[in-house]
Amino acid sequence: MSKGTAIITGAANGIGQAYAQRLAADGFDIAVADVVEANATKALVEAKGRQFFSAIVDVTAANSVNQFANDVNSHMPPVTALINNAGIYPWKSFEDTDYETWRKVISVNLDGPFLMCKAFVPGMKERNFGRIVNVASTTFWLNAPQMTAYIASKGGVIGFTRALASEVGQFGITANVIAPGLTNTKTMHNVNDEIFDYLPKLQAIPKMIQPEDLVGVVSFLCSQDSAFITGQTIATDGGQVRI
Ligand SMILES: NC(=O)c1ccc[n+]([C@@H]2O[C@H](COP(=O)([O-])OP(=O)(O)OC[C@H]3O[C@@H](n4cnc5c(N)ncnc54)[C@H](O)[C@@H]3O)[C@@H](O)[C@H]2O)c1
Repeated sequence: MSKGTAIITGAANGIGQAYAQRLAADGFDIAVADVVEANATKALVEAKGRQFFSAIVDVTAANSVNQFANDVNSHMPPVTALINNAGIYPWKSFEDTDYETWRKVISVNLDGPFLMCKAFVPGMKERNFGRIVNVASTTFWLNAPQMTAYIASKGGVIGFTRALASEVGQFGITANVIAPGLTNTKTMHNVNDEIFDYLPKLQAIPKMIQPEDLVGVVSFLCSQDSAFITGQTIATDGGQVRI
């Protein structure tokens, strides 16, 4: 039996794709919003026997997000979970970060979750049930240079989630954050290969984090068992930071 539809942004690749695969195995149908095609994710979800829908959606564009919400609400109701995973992380010093880059990072990483919540929270409220998981990063607690816009955006995600949780709890909706540590994805290797040499050694569990190491936390935060956890941030990083 379906647990309803889980929306996952940025699930055509990387960690989001692993979330899609796990939530499908948990019994959710999956709807993906990404700026690129999600054919590989479709195959993984359908292999678990679940329904799949995707659209080319830019999470920074309200009209694109609202059209996606209309499509999902008519094709695959009810939406029970929303995972705001889409994110970008250009590696730039503060000096090299121009305003355009700053705006772009804040827009994808923080405006995106805001717009997606605006589009999907009303339906969750009507049905008196919802699970929202926003994605931050443990860089928020670390000495991590070259990431001013990124860390500002992820701090915003944590603040937004804490505040949103206070307003939606009475409607059976929880809102939490997963904060992954450095995780082995193609994009992260393109951005900065060198940190994979030393950062995993600083973790209590000194191994490179794979997308699959993160999925259990998202599964739990989307489950009935997490009904009384809201406004929280769970660092999922092999024990590097303690919050
Ligand atoms: N990989 C890491 O080490 C790491 C660590 C901590 C947090 N994170 C966070 O996890 C999330 C996923 O990271 P990843 O490494 O899997 O990245 P990724 O690049 O592999 O995947 C990100 C996905 O988001 C999509 N996307 C980008 N801009 C978009 C937009 N405007 N609208 C819709 N989709 C868009 C991309 O097309 C891509 O499919 C991000 O929020 C990232 O900040 C990653």
